[in-house]
Amino acid sequence: MSDLTPDEAFLTLYSDLAREGPGAAADLGWALSVAATPAEARICDAGCGSGADTVTLAKERPRAKIDAVDKTAQFVDAARKRTAPFGARVRVWQGDMAQLDGPYDLIWCAGAIYFLGVTQGLQAWRSALAPNGVVAFSEPCMLPRPSDAARAFWSVEYPQITDMAGIRARVAAAGYRVLGENLQIGAAWENYYLPMERRIASLRPDASSTLAAALDTAEAEIARWRAAPSEIAYALMVVAPGLSAPDD
Ligand SMILES: C[S@@+](CC[C@H](N)C(=O)[O-])C[C@H]1O[C@@H](n2cnc3c(N)ncnc32)[C@H](O)[C@@H]1O
Repeated sequence: MSDLTPDEAFLTLYSDLAREGPGAAADLGWALSVAATPAEARICDAGCGSGADTVTLAKERPRAKIDAVDKTAQFVDAARKRTAPFGARVRVWQGDMAQLDGPYDLIWCAGAIYFLGVTQGLQAWRSALAPNGVVAFSEPCMLPRPSDAARAFWSVEYPQITDMAGIRARVAAAGYRVLGENLQIGAAWENYYLPMERRIASLRPDASSTLAAALDTAEAEIARWRAAPSEIAYALMVVAPGLSAPDD
């Protein structure tokens, strides 16, 4: 039998994970409250992956209409299965999150806006927001005075990383203002990496050479995170179009 392609190996590792990036339901709840997302909101989960947050959104706002989009067919299939119990009010499709129609009261984007760039993503979503619509997204954030271990993690995972001031500047460059900001450290990352460790252990015994290489890469990433878990952070930003008041 021929070996997997690198893409197939990646999807073998990432399929069946609870989520495809760091995140926590409590943080999503915080963003919904800062965004003042109404009960009957129209919400989009942009870059939904296998739908972990789509499910949380559907539970947190039981009367909302929720769209979820991802470019990866396998994740879209998984998200459809997970959200089927919510019926027609949750719609999942395969597509490009840069091309949303809306109108949405909230565009939620966990660990995916970096594919577009913060400024570019916010600009692309402007026309998909309803009046008073809000975007909430997470983005890698370098904390002050990073250790060598934290620098080593980000130099591999996201060399374009900036700090909180840099993220605020990217938000402002898109013509948005910050309504709230928070840091995701620890639990959100454990929700991602601990299930991944179990998946690696289950796949390792029968792994082909390509799959073994993908498992090695993921293990190395987890080891770099374990070297500085209190310093590896996402900023969770709740932002809306418009300029900040001068004294903000
Ligand atoms: C790190 S994962 C995060 C997934 C999910 N939000 C979560 O937290 O579990 C990033 C996701 O963005 C998706 N993605 C990347 N670029 C995209 C695009 N232009 N349109 C739609 N989805 C995209 C990937 O397929 C992947 O599922």
